[in-house]
Amino acid sequence: MARNKYDVDEVLETPFDVRHLKRSLKYAARYKGKIIAALILSTFAAVISLLSPLIVQNAVDNYMRSAEDIPMLLLSGAGVLACITVSVLFMKKRAMLMTDVGQNIVYDIRKDLFEHMQRLSFDYYDSRPHGKILTRIINYINSIADLMTNGIVNFILEIFNLLFITIFMFIVSWQLALVTLCGLPLYLGIMLLIKNHQRKAWQRVSNKSSNLAAYQHENIIGAKISQMFVREEENEEIHDRLAKAYRRDWMGAVRWSNLVWPSTDVVGITVQAAIYAVGLFAFRGTLTLGTILAMTDYTARFWQPLMNLSNLMNSVINAVAYLERIFEMMDEPIDIKDAPDAKEMPPMHGDVHFENVTFAYEEGINILEDLSFDVKAGESVALVGPTGAGKTTIVNLISRFYDLNGGVVRIDDRDISQVTLKSLRSQMGIMLQDSFIFSGTILDNIRYGKLDATLEECRAACKIVGIDDFIMGLKDGYKTVVNERGGGLSQGQKQLIAFARTIVSDPKILVLDEATSSIDAKTERYLQNGLNHLLKGRTSFIIAHRLSTIRNCDRIMYVSNKGITECGTHEELMEKRGDYYKLYTAQST
Ligand SMILES: Nc1ncnc2c1ncn2[C@@H]1O[C@H](COP(=O)(O)OP(=O)(O)OP(=O)(O)O)[C@@H](O)[C@H]1O
Ligand SMILES: [Mg+2]
Repeated sequence: MARNKYDVDEVLETPFDVRHLKRSLKYAARYKGKIIAALILSTFAAVISLLSPLIVQNAVDNYMRSAEDIPMLLLSGAGVLACITVSVLFMKKRAMLMTDVGQNIVYDIRKDLFEHMQRLSFDYYDSRPHGKILTRIINYINSIADLMTNGIVNFILEIFNLLFITIFMFIVSWQLALVTLCGLPLYLGIMLLIKNHQRKAWQRVSNKSSNLAAYQHENIIGAKISQMFVREEENEEIHDRLAKAYRRDWMGAVRWSNLVWPSTDVVGITVQAAIYAVGLFAFRGTLTLGTILAMTDYTARFWQPLMNLSNLMNSVINAVAYLERIFEMMDEPIDIKDAPDAKEMPPMHGDVHFENVTFAYEEGINILEDLSFDVKAGESVALVGPTGAGKTTIVNLISRFYDLNGGVVRIDDRDISQVTLKSLRSQMGIMLQDSFIFSGTILDNIRYGKLDATLEECRAACKIVGIDDFIMGLKDGYKTVVNERGGGLSQGQKQLIAFARTIVSDPKILVLDEATSSIDAKTERYLQNGLNHLLKGRTSFIIAHRLSTIRNCDRIMYVSNKGITECGTHEELMEKRGDYYKLYTAQST
């Protein structure tokens, strides 16, 4: 997926790739025991059900002469009934087995996909609509569930059916069997033609469905803003356009799919007529009536598996289009991952060194160029500067959320690209600009990064940031359930909870990106006192636009022009009368 919007189709139709099918068969192989059992059951069921025309043939040719034949006729009837009953029972057992296998396969794919998704870099999520990601992990996987449940076995079963019917036809009359087989090339030719168009048509549908989901998702997230700007009508128009495109492509695909049935019928009826004609005229006298009856039964059955196969082909075609997307996502390279010989980061002291760091989000547009600085363990450093200068970028690089285009970032003299991500990030406390709150209790949110944190530890953290009283005042206290994204909490409360969450993880290096921007000045002052205590012995990077917040930091770095242009204590920078001075005086007036 390239950088993409809701109204941009992801990829043009890709050629049919059997590797996707092979890959899904690998998932199926884990349950081969059950699949083989289902196949054996199906084979028995098919053979048993195919015995009934033979019984009918025998009855018509031998037991329709006199009243004495009645017991044998009844016995033949009972035989047909027994065949059908046993075959139905076997099929039922098979269905249960395959539902179990299918759901297990879908579970495995879903699990692998989610595990992979969790490791995809920031860049992946930055560059595509989240609705499209959702479509893949929900809709597409649901859609292939059916294929996995019944498709694979039905496919093999129908091929078996076809084979058995052909064998039985040859047993009954090889001449009429050949007549039936003459229709086969015609049928396959028609199917190949339809199939090719059908595949492309379903790929277009899957694109349109994901475009629609992307737009709907964006609008759910942005619903409040839409209403504020009274954008409902325009949004409805866009939605309408996307929904119509979806409907149009769906109808187009269905038109191709609907050609399968009539084509099968036409070929089937033509062949059946040929059987009657050849049987009754060309082989008059040589073939019995029973033989012709049994043959027309087999011929009718012969097209059934073929039609089922072509219908299954539809589901396979759809599923392959979906599998393409699912596997594409599973194959999405994890850009930020442990180096092959990555070591564990030992317990950190907290020295941070940037050496000639160059970084660009997009090729050719450097955000930082040749940036070097040293921060000693325990030092508190403020990053200030104009919007878009690169402050968040710098702190993202310390946690290795992105890889560098040049230079190196070291923590305690270790290149962070050579240590495991887990050992690096678990020792850092990062509070990003948008403090995300997950659905669940407040307590769950606070111990998100340290699952075994006790209530006391969480309360201690909340006391430092000054939100303990507020939480205790809620009806369910720390067990109060908050909605996704923290609905029901004010912006400042969300920030304070996110702050407590960072503190509980007890990091050696603390990164606070606009951590207090939504908090009132009084609460912030209170929090500042708690922080001073907390920051002792930890390296901290604090980004704040409200400069009063960072006055007391050991060092202030002014970020602009793709690097750091001023660096010193508040007093030193004020004396220098440079950019920091201008910013500070602008704020205090
Ligand atoms: N994911 C991204 N993809 C591409 N460009 C990005 C991305 N994130 C940030 N940028 C660009 O990088 C530059 C630095 O962004 P950054 O978020 O580091 O700024 P900042 O100093 O933190 O700004 P602010 O004070 O507004 O938070 C900006 O020009 C921005 O447009
Ligand atoms: Mg920022």
